Amino acid sequence: MEKVLLGLAADIPLGTAREFVANGRVLAVFATNSGYMALDGLCAHAGGPLAKGKIQGGVVTCPWHGWQYELSTGRHCLSAGVSQACFTVVLEEDQLYVLMPATVD
Ligand code: FES
Repeated sequence: MEKVLLGLAADIPLGTAREFVANGRVLAVFATNSGYMALDGLCAHAGGPLAKGKIQGGVVTCPWHGWQYELSTGRHCLSAGVSQACFTVVLEEDQLYVLMPATVD
């Protein structure tokens, strides 16, 4: 795994999300009562920006057409076969990092 710096944790207030690009991949990073979580930021339906979705009860709702995903697993709430990639977020000092699969040159 590769640890990639995202930025200051303070830039994501509790209950909100922010979009980042890490290793060429768009991520939606969420600040929740359970900690920081990261999903693939582009919705599996048509690429909607999950970081701009409504967050409620551990679920994000895509702002484009309403698909919903569990923040802790990336699983679609209705379709078992659909899920967003899920990444571990680490808080060190006041900085957030995401653990990404190592890139292959
Ligand atoms: S793009 Fe997310 S629900 Fe359609």
